[in-house]
Amino acid sequence: MAEGRPGREEAMELLKRYNKGEGLIKHALAVEAVMRHCARKRGEDEEKWGVIGLVHDLDYEQYPEQHCQKTEEILREAGWPEEYIRAVMSHGWGLRTEVRPESEMEKVLYAIDELTGLVAATALVRPSKSVMDMKVKSVKKKWKEKAFAAGVDRGVIEKGAEMLGVSVEELIEDTIMGMREAADELGLKGGI
Ligand SMILES: [Fe+2]
Ligand SMILES: [Fe+2]
Repeated sequence: MAEGRPGREEAMELLKRYNKGEGLIKHALAVEAVMRHCARKRGEDEEKWGVIGLVHDLDYEQYPEQHCQKTEEILREAGWPEEYIRAVMSHGWGLRTEVRPESEMEKVLYAIDELTGLVAATALVRPSKSVMDMKVKSVKKKWKEKAFAAGVDRGVIEKGAEMLGVSVEELIEDTIMGMREAADELGLKGGI
C-alpha cells in the first residue's frame, strides 16, 4: 500500500470490484463527497474521510446478509489500517455491528449516510432535478412526509446529529453542500 495508507484510487478499485450496480456506486460517491466536505470544514484529513466514505458499503451488493462483517474481512485482507476498518464498521452500529461511533469522523459517517439518500430523492422530485439550488427547507419538508423515501431512517439521522451536537438542519446543509461538489457524477446537477 502506497505510503502505508489507502488512497482514493485503491478505494475506487475495491468499490468497482465488488459493486456493479450504479445505485450503490452513486451512494458511495455521495457519502465520499459529504465526508470530504465535513472534513474540510473541521480542518481534518479530507482524503482519509473521503476514502472511508467510498468503501463504507463495499459488501452490500454481494453480501447483504453479512453487511459490515464482510467489508471488515475484505479490508483486513487488503491490509487496511484498523482506524479505517473501525470507522466503516461503526456506520452499522446498533443494526449490523456493536461498534459505536466514537471519533468525529465516525459520528459524521453515521449521521450523513442515510441523509444522502433523502437529499438525492428530494432533488429528483424538484423541478430543477438538482442539488445546486436546493434549500434546507425543501429537505425538511420531505423529512416530515413519512411515506417519502420511506427507507431513510430519520431516527438514525437524529441520533447522529445528537452525537455530533449539531442540529438536523445543519447536517442537511452540510449534506447538500457536499453533494453539490459531486453533483455531476451523482446525476444531480439537473439543468443547472
Ligand atoms: Fe451500510
Ligand atoms: Fe451507506
